[in-house]
Amino acid sequence: MLSERMAKALNDQVTAEFYSSYFYLSMHSYFESLNLEGFSHWMRFQAQEEMMHAMKLYDYINERGGHIILQTIDQPPAEWHSVLHVFEKVLEHEQKVTGMINNLVDVALDERDHASCAFLQWFVSEQVEEESHVGAIVNKLTMVKDDPAGLFVMDQELGKRLPPTVE
Ligand code: FEO
Repeated sequence: MLSERMAKALNDQVTAEFYSSYFYLSMHSYFESLNLEGFSHWMRFQAQEEMMHAMKLYDYINERGGHIILQTIDQPPAEWHSVLHVFEKVLEHEQKVTGMINNLVDVALDERDHASCAFLQWFVSEQVEEESHVGAIVNKLTMVKDDPAGLFVMDQELGKRLPPTVE
C-alpha cells in the first residue's frame, strides 16, 4: 500500500506527464502548420510517449492500492517561433521533468518505499535517454539554423522515428 504522501507525489506526476503530452501536441500542430512532416511525425510520437508515461504511473498507483486523483491539466503555450525554438523548449521541459523524477525518488527514499524506488528507476533511465536524444537534436538544429537544405535533411531523419514503447 502506498503512503498518502507517495500516492500524492505519484498523482502529481501523472498530471505532469499528461501536461507533457499536451505540450508536445501543441508543438505537433505547429509543425503541421509548417508542413514539416518529419518533425510533425516525431512530435506526435513524443506526445504519445508522454501519455504512456502517465499511464505507466497510473497503473502503478492502482497496483499498489493508491487512490487516483485526476487533476486539471494546464493549457500549454500555443505560439512557437522556429523549429530550433521548439526543440530548445523540449530540452528545457525534459530537464524540468528530470528534476521532478528525482524529487519523486527522494520522496520514495524518505518514505522507505523500496518498491516505488525500484519502479521509478525506469523513469530515471528514461530521462537520461530523453535529454541526450533531444540535446543532440538541438545541437544539430543550432548548426543548421534556418538553412532550408539542412532542415529538409533533419525533417527526413526525424520522420524515421519508431512508435514509442514503455517496457
Ligand atoms: Fe515523460 Fe519526456 O518525460
